[in-house]
Amino acid sequence: MSIIIGGKGHYFTILTMKVLGLFGSPRRGGNTDLLLEEMLRGAQSRGAEIERIFLSDWDISGCRECRRCEITGNCVIQDQMQKLYPKLLQADYIILASPIFFYGVTAQAKRVIDRCQALWARKYILKKTSVQEESARRKGWFLSVAGSRGEKVFQGAILTVRYFFDALNVEYAGSLTFRGIDGKGAVRKHPNALKEVFKAGRRMLI
Ligand SMILES: Cc1cc2nc3c(=O)[nH]c(=O)nc-3n(C[C@H](O)[C@H](O)[C@H](O)COP(=O)(O)O)c2cc1C
Repeated sequence: MSIIIGGKGHYFTILTMKVLGLFGSPRRGGNTDLLLEEMLRGAQSRGAEIERIFLSDWDISGCRECRRCEITGNCVIQDQMQKLYPKLLQADYIILASPIFFYGVTAQAKRVIDRCQALWARKYILKKTSVQEESARRKGWFLSVAGSRGEKVFQGAILTVRYFFDALNVEYAGSLTFRGIDGKGAVRKHPNALKEVFKAGRRMLI
């Protein structure tokens, strides 16, 4: 978030909100990629600064459960997650997009979530939070699609994402989910999904 103040006796405050988009699907150009891209376009049309992270391109391994983070607040694994932690802590808004895989998020998204155990440990065991985390009310959204039309198909993933955001000190702002979307690009045929997420991207910055 940047603040500029100035003018002849007038004060102007310009806030540039940072929006971090986490693309969690291994299928590039697939349904959740299309949705997240639209939501980011919506946010960008309101002047937000956008960063896109395609998680399947990032070398991030799973949590080893060594529990060192409970003592230090940091993860011992030296991989690209070390570059992602500061981005997660500095973004004003985080949008995680993941299709439903076996009633949960993808492995690509879950690896990141599990590695945030270090941030959970900072918050709940070590009782430490960073200034950035405390300085603003940060918000997080979840975007998802499922091939089936099961009534409870998003429930498990939403619960996981709510606790992911909580570890990051990010307020869970809501989920935008679409059922019965399976083939690559099928979401384009949905009557309003892409429009809906674009609007949500614009609205989230108000
Ligand atoms: C490994 C795997 C597991 C899946 N599990 C589920 C599931 O549990 N429930 C469901 O409704 N769809 C399931 N699907 C279908 C995907 O959610 C669906 O194809 C979705 O549109 C993929 O989104 P994407 O194009 O963003 O990758 C699964 C697909 C794969 C490849």
